[in-house]
Amino acid sequence: MDKVFDRVFDSIKKYIANAPDRNVAPTKEALDNLSTFEEALPEKYTSAEEVIKMLDEYGSPATVTSTGGRFFGFVIGSAFPSSMAANMLAAAWDQNSGIKASSPIGVKLDEIALEWLKQILHLPMESGGTLVTGTTMASFTSLAAARTSILKRKGWDVEKQGLFNAPEFKVYVGEEAHVTIHKALSLLGLGSERVERIPVDKQGRILPDMLSEINEPAIICTQLGNVNTGAFDDMKAICKWAEKSGSWVHVDGAFGLWANASPKYKHLSEGVEMADSWACDLHKWLNVPYDNGVAIVKDKQALKDAMSMSAAYLQEGDNREPHHYTPEASRRGRGIEVWAALKNQGREGVADLVNRCCDHAKSFAEQLKNNGFTILNDVVLNQVMIEFGTPEQTNEIIRRVQEDGTCWCGGTLWQGHTAMRISVVSYATTDKDVKLSVDAITRIANEVLNE
Ligand SMILES: Cc1ncc(COP(=O)(O)O)c(C=O)c1O
Repeated sequence: MDKVFDRVFDSIKKYIANAPDRNVAPTKEALDNLSTFEEALPEKYTSAEEVIKMLDEYGSPATVTSTGGRFFGFVIGSAFPSSMAANMLAAAWDQNSGIKASSPIGVKLDEIALEWLKQILHLPMESGGTLVTGTTMASFTSLAAARTSILKRKGWDVEKQGLFNAPEFKVYVGEEAHVTIHKALSLLGLGSERVERIPVDKQGRILPDMLSEINEPAIICTQLGNVNTGAFDDMKAICKWAEKSGSWVHVDGAFGLWANASPKYKHLSEGVEMADSWACDLHKWLNVPYDNGVAIVKDKQALKDAMSMSAAYLQEGDNREPHHYTPEASRRGRGIEVWAALKNQGREGVADLVNRCCDHAKSFAEQLKNNGFTILNDVVLNQVMIEFGTPEQTNEIIRRVQEDGTCWCGGTLWQGHTAMRISVVSYATTDKDVKLSVDAITRIANEVLNE
């Protein structure tokens, strides 16, 4: 026991200490060495220490250093040391936090995390909620509650009767909705393509007047923080239209909902509390380890109706039992690391994190614009899109930036433009990281453009 844990903690400390200076992308050698894992299923025992030694020797170098300050791809957050350490302690506890009897601490911290999240995100305190793997599952869970609620109002019990022959209702989705909304809808039998697509403006915001034609209860999927532009739908206007038709408004706020935790950016999501459900990632802007997200649903009973299980040995007494509010039965205690991050940072620390990331995004945009490149979006939050030249040139610049390893940025296609995308969501990013990254991107872009 001692040997394996001494070994692993040494490796962890070394990995974290080296993160600020490592190449962000793994080297070719590290990637080639992954073939070491391609061995036959072992017949015999290998000591735990040997297993961890191999994992560290060949696994650690083949990671992308998203815990450092210069990973700007896909909206992937880092992990605060407090939440990372809490996650490690929770692994030692190995609790099933789906049932109070099997993890009093896991369930307690789930409840506290949910209460604190509602407070810090300024969402209605009467709402129910659950911690899930991420925004995709949070949208799935929220939209399941929406489906239950709308069909119940039409006299249909979807949990018992299923969807065959159910009364129809419409689902409205913005043209620039994240792909995971379509995935959640398809998992729920609502059809990823059956939706009505609402036109959007140049930043990807729903044009709210397009909702004026809705005259019976529907689901309207909105977005706070477009993955490319960071733009926010006009929640106040959308919720007013929705109210008229008794529609359910769902918010995909994977990262943008965190603007509500900052007094400086809260105005962007004005009216968000008028919605019915919210999906948000915790592994993104709260900087807790993967995988962690939250679904919050104003109508707690609709959430419970959609998610509860009825086995005799799983009845809910006076206590809240998590498995009645979430798609899973057995589950890890995601609240443990969420509690640790919120306890560690407090409201001020989280607001500061959001503000710092947004400042860095603005600084990226200003510096890259001054260096002659085109910024495609209004930088309202933490997302920056850059077009360098032709699609081929931009793609080549992205490839070389990733290969160079100073920083990591991904590519995207935005309303006909091929672009590189920078997303700042890590507590670890400093002014120095931004400067190093701007210099590397500029050097590589000029090389490509001059060829
Ligand atoms: C706007 C938006 N919605 C949903 C998601 C999906 O989140 P997850 O991968 O945590 O399920 C993302 C991920 O980047 C996102 O940016």
